[in-house]
Amino acid sequence: MKGIIFEGKDKPLKYGEISFDSKDGMVDVRLKAAALNRRDYWITLGLYPGKPVLPTVLGSDACGSYDDKDYIICPNVDWGEEAYPSANYLILGYEHFGTFAEYISVPTSKLYAKPAHLSIEQAAAIPLAGLTAYRALITRCKAAKNDRVFISGIGGGVALFACQFALALGCEVYVSSGSAEKIDQAKDLGVIDGVNYHDKDAMLQLAKKVGGFDVVIDSAGGPGFNTLLKMCRMGANVGVYGGTVGNMDGISVPNLFFKQITIHGSTMGSDNEFASMIDLINKHKIVPVVDRTYGLSEGVEAINSMKNSSQFGKIVLNIS
Ligand SMILES: NC(=O)c1ccc[n+]([C@@H]2O[C@H](COP(=O)([O-])OP(=O)(O)OC[C@H]3O[C@@H](n4cnc5c(N)ncnc54)[C@H](OP(=O)(O)O)[C@@H]3O)[C@@H](O)[C@H]2O)c1
Repeated sequence: MKGIIFEGKDKPLKYGEISFDSKDGMVDVRLKAAALNRRDYWITLGLYPGKPVLPTVLGSDACGSYDDKDYIICPNVDWGEEAYPSANYLILGYEHFGTFAEYISVPTSKLYAKPAHLSIEQAAAIPLAGLTAYRALITRCKAAKNDRVFISGIGGGVALFACQFALALGCEVYVSSGSAEKIDQAKDLGVIDGVNYHDKDAMLQLAKKVGGFDVVIDSAGGPGFNTLLKMCRMGANVGVYGGTVGNMDGISVPNLFFKQITIHGSTMGSDNEFASMIDLINKHKIVPVVDRTYGLSEGVEAINSMKNSSQFGKIVLNIS
């Protein structure tokens, strides 16, 4: 089959032919569309932990067909007990062959009916980012109706799902971005206001204006994280699922404990959370934001295009 093949960080990522292994106890899904995550980009740079047998196929998200029906695929492998991932937990698309290919072999338990209101490309955009956003926002931070929610870096795939889920729950949603255009695009979705994350004063003024945030969702970390804590109101929940900028230097410890803030680390989510996330998308007819699509043969170009974070939403590979 054709796929995007990773042979190691010192070898060029390539589109080519790789043999497909049908696995016992699993079904072969003909993939129709797959979505990119920053994880794919980190892997190509050698910045993602793991010990894959090389060559391997990248990609964690997809929509494909099996037995004449369209499904989205839960990318979890061995999540384990409900509360936290097991020591064996893996995500499709590194140690296991991923979705940037024509076929994948998965257990039927990982197949979820494609939401009827979505196109194949929109459905393919959901799995990893939707699951991460669901757990960080809803399971870990317990966001609820009327909460004031602040989501940083709204151009990100996970951030946008968190935003759409928070809006669906009836939260008041505010965002940050490095791009004024992306803030305007977020307002079109229902976000109340947004600020540039490089402008610390604007961030603090926004927090003052709204009376502080009940929930903050962040994947940047870095020195700006302390500003996010200053934007919290008493008893706030802060969900952290990434560290794009780096470690959180200079956190004001008194700010953390006087305001009784809880910081929740969050990674992916269980299979049950995946099912609940799909239910939420179906119930509120949420439409994932797809920034642009490429053909599978253009997958290397698509992954490299993540370098400058120009996207608003997901980048999708059209396989069919
Ligand atoms: N733990 C997990 O399970 C999990 C799952 C998925 C992702 N992640 C991690 O979470 C991060 C985001 O992933 P993604 O797939 O959503 O990435 P993405 O779609 O590539 O988005 C990255 C976004 O980061 C934002 N950003 C850059 N600098 C920032 C700053 N100083 N402050 C705030 N935001 C900033 C940008 O927002 P603007 O474009 O708006 O400027 C950019 O669009 C990555 O580090 C990824 O590895 C972790």
